[in-house]
Amino acid sequence: MYKKIMVAIDGSEYSERALDRAINLAKTFNSQIILLNVVKTEELEIVRQYSESSYELVKSYLEQTADKLLTEAEKKVRKKGIEDVVKKVAFGDPAEKIVDEADSEGVDLIAIGTRGLTGVKRVVLGSTTQKVMRWSNKDVLVVH
Ligand SMILES: Nc1ncnc2c1ncn2[C@@H]1O[C@H](COP(=O)(O)OP(=O)(O)OP(=O)(O)O)[C@@H](O)[C@H]1O
Ligand SMILES: [Mg+2]
Repeated sequence: MYKKIMVAIDGSEYSERALDRAINLAKTFNSQIILLNVVKTEELEIVRQYSESSYELVKSYLEQTADKLLTEAEKKVRKKGIEDVVKKVAFGDPAEKIVDEADSEGVDLIAIGTRGLTGVKRVVLGSTTQKVMRWSNKDVLVVH
């Protein structure tokens, strides 16, 4: 059960808790953990219309920032004694990419937070999580 768990990491306290939960499950089921961060490209398209080189520059900066975030998460996973951990950065719409990557990686479970960086308390579920639950046929573990 749950041989491959994907954790959607956005740098929020919610995704941090989703990671903690995934680590516990991975220890129980001896699972691989895939850490995914999606760099939103929607706003970036505006930059691209003005300057392709600025677009590339901003994109690679954002990619580095994403990788740093994932490296922190990876350290935490390894510290807990899990060796089988992979980092992945994707570009595009977060929900779409989480669903696509979960399919292409063939994961059994997606661990995700109830909310994320926007984190409005009166919103029960963030829009990324809502879409992932609607669009993915994978089990989704939504962590508060
Ligand atoms: N860019 C992203 N890359 C990876 N995972 C993400 C990303 N954005 C959100 N997530 C995942 O989705 C969870 C819920 O975040 P979501 O974006 O739905 O809520 P929000 O930021 O509070 O609200 P909204 O984005 O709808 O304004 C996060 O805890 C995280 O697990
Ligand atoms: Mg969000």
